[in-house]
Amino acid sequence: MRILGIESSCDETAAAVVADGREILSSVVASQFATHGKYGGVVPELASREHLRAIVPVVRLALEQARTGLDELAAVAVTEGPGLVGSLLVGITYAKSLCFARGLPLIGVNHIEGHIHAVLLEAGERIEFPALALVVSGGHTHLFEVREGFAYRLLGKTRDDAAGEAYDKVAKLLGFGYPGGPIIDRLAPYGDPRAVRFTLARMKGNALDFSFSGLKTAVLRWVEQHDLASEIEARRKLAAPGFDEWLRFTPQATLDLLASFQATVIEELLRRLDASAEEIGARSLIVSGGVAANAGLRAAARNASLPGPVFFPSPALSTDNAAMIAAAAFPKLARGGIDDFALRASANLALA
Ligand code: KG4
Ligand code: ZN
Repeated sequence: MRILGIESSCDETAAAVVADGREILSSVVASQFATHGKYGGVVPELASREHLRAIVPVVRLALEQARTGLDELAAVAVTEGPGLVGSLLVGITYAKSLCFARGLPLIGVNHIEGHIHAVLLEAGERIEFPALALVVSGGHTHLFEVREGFAYRLLGKTRDDAAGEAYDKVAKLLGFGYPGGPIIDRLAPYGDPRAVRFTLARMKGNALDFSFSGLKTAVLRWVEQHDLASEIEARRKLAAPGFDEWLRFTPQATLDLLASFQATVIEELLRRLDASAEEIGARSLIVSGGVAANAGLRAAARNASLPGPVFFPSPALSTDNAAMIAAAAFPKLARGGIDDFALRASANLALA
């Protein structure tokens, strides 16, 4: 049973064909980094325009690479939210048109549920329930209990910035490009993670909630106290730098700052992963979303003594893609969970 997945919630236009919720026949992702890079973050209006430009060729390429005709599809799945409404609308409208023209079932998928299915897609039966899922990306830092049959309960979430957002804001502040996560991740091993002591967030109320705005402000204070203006300016002037250039233009003190920032984010994430897994008696731990691509986080999770085995998606399935959307739609289709053309883009769609 082949499902075409379409994802356009933020700054990636993606399409994929997945068979039986498990086998990826194709997964095409067109990123808009070049468009948003100079602004240090996603510009919604530009994102919608880029989606409009990319959606037709991206879907066509996904079908071609999967050697799948529209008449071989069992359904079209599309991200309905959360995300940027103008961006979501492009994917939803295109999916509806395909379904209308070809008489195909339409399935709306929650983007966060998609991220969780990125792990289920690859790890399959090795995931035991109840599972704990930490979805950590540019838009979300959420902890869910996942029961058999994909029932979700929200255990905690960020009260301010998402972890990926903190990476992107710190990168922007320091004159690195967008997205900031991959750059900081690669530079962090060159610094001393104990050089700058950041305090961990103490949460009143739900101890499983997250907060990253204090850390972001602490980085800002550090930058203000150290004279970084000229090195930041030099980095901002670099045109399309590669990793070696970033490294060359980043003095040791800044590398130490980045390493310390990353170590603090990882500690915040792993502490709550550990505590929440303990609380629900999780038999598997899932970490997904763009920040799950972080090499430091993966290594730290492997070395930590957590209450159960930890599963990460492969890096390509950690960041936004449409294979995870098609995979999440498979159990919905099996249950007859088909949407009608009233399906709407929903900026704040909740999973639980
Ligand atoms: O899941 P995703 O592609 O989009 C959202 O749903 O938000 O995640 C993008 C986020 C960005 O904030 C990006 O900086 C971050 O994930 N990211 C990383 C890494 N790769 C991407 N953060 C830390 N380390 C990485 N290697
Ligand atoms: Zn995402």
